[in-house]
Amino acid sequence: MVYRVGYFVGSLSKDSINRVLSKALVKLAPDDLELTEIPIGDLPLFNRDDEMDPPQAVTELKRAIEAAQAILIITPEYNRSIPGPLKNALDWASRPYGQNSFDHVPAAVIGASPGNIGTALAQQSVRGVLSFCNARQMTSPEAYIKFDPEVYGTDGEVTDEGTRAILTTFMQEFRTHIERVLTVLPRA
Ligand code: FNR
Repeated sequence: MVYRVGYFVGSLSKDSINRVLSKALVKLAPDDLELTEIPIGDLPLFNRDDEMDPPQAVTELKRAIEAAQAILIITPEYNRSIPGPLKNALDWASRPYGQNSFDHVPAAVIGASPGNIGTALAQQSVRGVLSFCNARQMTSPEAYIKFDPEVYGTDGEVTDEGTRAILTTFMQEFRTHIERVLTVLPRA
């Protein structure tokens, strides 16, 4: 059994440390997780006037989430909250009313920052949104990553054993969480 996981990177920067983190997580994930990025950079700004007849990029976003069996969000923290591009994607995916793409999806949140709290407040904000959107979140372990560039290669190799262990455990626990949720009731 392979589980299909769609992941979001909450930064559009070409130098994103969260993109580096995403590569590390893909490398360290258990073999039976198939991770595919769900891109958010080409989405228009959310406008509820367009919900019922959304632009193509939005339709593709919703299809990608619905085709996944679980969702992983890897995000920076901007001004102690969710980066705009990510919040925009979450809002599009949650709509229109009654067609929320996150309904019952197993989900996890992680993020990296150069600062000491390692995106804790952004992750709390994302959790609040996912909670309202009725996703089945992994609540433990949490992972607030203070990003040290010396620990990561650009392709996501992790040179520090302790960091590698934390990220590996996070992904193993996420895999168990996905199995637990989907065993109770598979996603339709
Ligand atoms: C930041 N940064 C930041 N860091 C943090 O730990 N808490 C914060 O609230 C903020 N706020 C913030 C706002 C804005 C607009 C920017 C551009 C940056 C710094 C941030 O963690 C750093 O730029 C990271 O490198 C951003 O992640 P990516 O884009 O490299 O993945």
